[in-house]
Amino acid sequence: MATRAHSKNTPTCSDCHTAHAVRTHRDSLSTIYPANVAATCQKCHPRADAAFAQSYTHQTLQPAKGGVNYWITRIYWVLIAVIIGGMVLHNLVILNFHILQAKRRQTAGRKIVRFDAHQLIQHMALTVSFILLAVTGFALKYPDAWWVKFLSGLGLEEPLRRILHRIMAVILIACGIYHVVYLFLTRRGREEWATIIPAKSDLADLADTMKFHLNLNPRKPEYGRYDYSQKAEYWALIWGTMAMIVTGLILWFPAQFSPLLPRWAVTAAQTIHLYEAWLATLAVIVWHFFFVIFHPEEYPMSWTWLTGKLSLEHVRHRHGRWFAAITGKPAAANETGEEGEDESGRP
Ligand code: HEC
Ligand code: HEC
Repeated sequence: MATRAHSKNTPTCSDCHTAHAVRTHRDSLSTIYPANVAATCQKCHPRADAAFAQSYTHQTLQPAKGGVNYWITRIYWVLIAVIIGGMVLHNLVILNFHILQAKRRQTAGRKIVRFDAHQLIQHMALTVSFILLAVTGFALKYPDAWWVKFLSGLGLEEPLRRILHRIMAVILIACGIYHVVYLFLTRRGREEWATIIPAKSDLADLADTMKFHLNLNPRKPEYGRYDYSQKAEYWALIWGTMAMIVTGLILWFPAQFSPLLPRWAVTAAQTIHLYEAWLATLAVIVWHFFFVIFHPEEYPMSWTWLTGKLSLEHVRHRHGRWFAAITGKPAAANETGEEGEDESGRP
């Protein structure tokens, strides 16, 4: 193991087996012939004796059936599965309780439509295709990763992987077309478009948000229907999806595209497809999952992706300008951002 990590101070095959006269342990001239092993070890462990020589066997890593190490390994597999599995089940029960509590909290009182049915379908199609694209794409790039081996053990082998990746790509493209049509051909879509366009005030909101959370400014900024983090995420998604679709199509049909493109285009498409995938996946985890899962006010989950609704209280708390537009009342009436006035009522 240390040798694989490029350690120089570690015995490697040739240290014990020699470089040229590699012989079986049944050969009395072999360095690993039972009577010679101690001498082999002594090259580096001067005090090695017969008992010490016994301490080295390749079999600890691949225990043969029935031996001590075989049983230790099996017992630990069962222990780990039972103990950790039990912990997971136990904690899922608790997590489920809190997810349902969050739903009750988030849907209490008057509700505002955040997403209509079209948007929920778009988001769901995007969620499924994005996750499966990431999994089936990274599985091609990192075939030796443990989770890729695990998945291929479950049947996600190359023939299935490649077809699944393409099917999901088609769903993602269809989802993008659906989104554009929705955005410009429905009234609600045009309204959404108007509120998601970045404005100068977003930069001020970003600065104010940082100041508030660094305790440099007591007032929490009030955001519109979509705050700067949501706008940034939306536009990053649009840009990223277009980059993935274009480079993905080039990689899908290289023979058709390469005559039309400069020589470097196909390999550049490969590079962009990989790094954009990393960028998008990390952005989803670090940015999107933060705001919809890990944010202390949302944890364990915002239900909006399933219900399409936000409680008016939440809108007041997180989207003050939007709240004012809906109700005609200022959002900050009794909010200082402190005083433990957390609408969740959590302790
Ligand atoms: C080429 C020199 C060399 C030879 C030959 C050698 N060892 Fe080692 N051995 C090392 C070094 C160096 C370490 C410490 C490695 C470390 O700490 O990363 C080590 C560590 C060990 C350990 C500590 C536990 C472990 O797995 O790291 C045992 C046991 C051991 N050797 C047994 C043997 C036996 C038995 C033989 C003969 C079959 C042998 N060694 C031959 C260099 C050698
Ligand atoms: C620290 C000394 C040591 C190192 C390093 C070492 N071996 Fe061994 N090897 C042994 C000993 C001792 C045996 C016999 C006992 C056993 O296999 O448990 C053995 C047995 C074997 C055998 C079975 C031979 C037979 O006749 O049954 C193979 C194959 C083997 N080693 C390959 C390798 C390879 C490949 C590497 C490098 C990745 C390696 N060994 C590194 C000490 C070593």
